Amino acid sequence: MKEIKFLNCRIDLSKKVFSPRVETEYWVEKAIREIKGKNLKILDVFAGSGCVGIAILRNLKDSRVDFADIDENALAEIRINAEKNEIPAGQYRIVKSDLFENLKGKKYDVIFANPPYVAERRMEEVDKDVLENDPGIALFSGKEGLNHIDKLLKKAKNHLTNGGLIYFEFDPKQKETIKDILEKEGYDNFQFRKDQFKKYRWIKIVK
Ligand SMILES: C[S@@+](CC[C@H](N)C(=O)[O-])C[C@H]1O[C@@H](n2cnc3c(N)ncnc32)[C@H](O)[C@@H]1O
Repeated sequence: MKEIKFLNCRIDLSKKVFSPRVETEYWVEKAIREIKGKNLKILDVFAGSGCVGIAILRNLKDSRVDFADIDENALAEIRINAEKNEIPAGQYRIVKSDLFENLKGKKYDVIFANPPYVAERRMEEVDKDVLENDPGIALFSGKEGLNHIDKLLKKAKNHLTNGGLIYFEFDPKQKETIKDILEKEGYDNFQFRKDQFKKYRWIKIVK
């Protein structure tokens, strides 16, 4: 059975979901450190193995997390990982949802997202190992890799409390187009950030 470490959590991958990347581990640690407040309501959308939300629950003990993913394997995997990391049952929910579809009326203090963001037109550049091991549904997002990010930014503002935060990951090549989408959608308080390899990889947005 395959298991990896993600921050201070043990993450099972036996359901063949997306394998967490070191870049994600890097920014999630930083984001968890800067979130302030008590009893925060947090959404981990595009949750996959659940590594992001599990790390939040292990490190912000009074927070509550909704995990959302469209893939049944991911939902089963999140359940395994929540139990493996001894997360109290009352602190999380696992929701099968196409983005916010089944989260109608829900508002969060913080939304974390690591969406599929590989451009279909760059498929030949993707390592054979990745294509064989990670599910396609976790990787690709239309011709430019931006379909999920575009939808996320259109809808997320309706699911944030005032002053709420969004953190999400992207491909460094997408930075300028993401800036255009943010402006079009009326977000004016955001900061692009680099990963441990000095590439723009994640963003913090304040509503
Ligand atoms: C890149 S993986 C991220 C997994 C995990 N959060 C991580 O950082 O390792 C993207 C995840 O998004 C899910 N996904 C793809 N399309 C979706 C959609 N429309 N709504 C919700 N989840 C979706 C996939 O099943 C996959 O688990």
